[in-house]
Amino acid sequence: MIVCQCRRVSDRKVAASVRKGCSSLRDVCAATGAGRECGCCVRRLKELIEEHLAPQPERQIAHATA
Ligand code: FES
Repeated sequence: MIVCQCRRVSDRKVAASVRKGCSSLRDVCAATGAGRECGCCVRRLKELIEEHLAPQPERQIAHATA
C-alpha cells in the first residue's frame, strides 16, 4: 500500500528501511524520500515506524523456547 502519495513510497519500503536500521521519522524520510512534500503522510509514517520497532510476538516466543 502506498503511504506517501507524493513520492509513491509504500509501507513495505518503510518497513524495509526500519529493518535496515532507520529508527526515527527523519531516518525513514531520508532513506525513502517519504514525507518531504505535503507532509500528509507523516502521521502514518510515525505509526508504521512504531509498529515495526515494537517487538514481534513470534520472535519473543522463538527466543523463549530457544
Ligand atoms: S503524501 Fe507524503 S509528502 Fe505528501
